[in-house]
Amino acid sequence: MFYEPKNQNHGLPKNPFNSLVIPRPIGWISSIDSDGVFNLAPYSFFNAVCYRPPTVMFSAGASSTDDRNKDTARNVETTGEFVCNLAIWELREQMNLSSATLPPETDEIALAGLTPVGSTLVKAPRIAEAPVQLECKYVKTTLIPGWDHGDGYKVIFGEVIGVHIDDAMITEGGLIDVAKMMPIGRLGYNDYARVDADSIFTIARPG
Ligand SMILES: Cc1cc2nc3c(=O)[nH]c(=O)nc-3n(C[C@H](O)[C@H](O)[C@H](O)COP(=O)(O)O)c2cc1C
Repeated sequence: MFYEPKNQNHGLPKNPFNSLVIPRPIGWISSIDSDGVFNLAPYSFFNAVCYRPPTVMFSAGASSTDDRNKDTARNVETTGEFVCNLAIWELREQMNLSSATLPPETDEIALAGLTPVGSTLVKAPRIAEAPVQLECKYVKTTLIPGWDHGDGYKVIFGEVIGVHIDDAMITEGGLIDVAKMMPIGRLGYNDYARVDADSIFTIARPG
């Protein structure tokens, strides 16, 4: 089949786009607002985009009418900081809970029963239970205009300035033990994939 997204002529019961760029890593972003309220939410329009300096991005739905603006984007743009926590199999329910649409004064870290811990270089909290936490400094926002007037996405870039790794997730040989961490990725709809020992394979790159 072929369809043109702008014509929405895929003829399927649900928009398939979310399941066509997969599996997507999930940036589980913790932030703090100007009143000191913690915030946590998953973003699967998320990725690492360069090494030097290590930089990540996530993309948050935005609206000129403010009703669909995400707390995470507002906090990051206001405070200039955020933390990316690694979403793992063991924390899948908490990750999902933290995606609930809630008023800005609700602390989703507490709501999900997770433990906030102080960061080293930023004010945004880290999630103690996550095996990897990337402390990030806001770099810039690129606005992707939407089809509907006033709507769009804010693509937010951040430089990773501090990296926390649970020592238990580092092998004796000094590699990250991905199979032990069991990260999860998004497959669209309400589906996810788990990376574990059975699903990892290795291919040597050509010289
Ligand atoms: C796995 C998953 C991935 C998500 N990815 C995104 C995303 O990339 N961009 C977005 O705007 N919302 C995304 N959402 C929805 C947000 O998590 C949700 O709107 C949340 O309430 C935003 O919280 P905030 O307003 O505290 O930032 C995702 C939800 C889930 C469950």
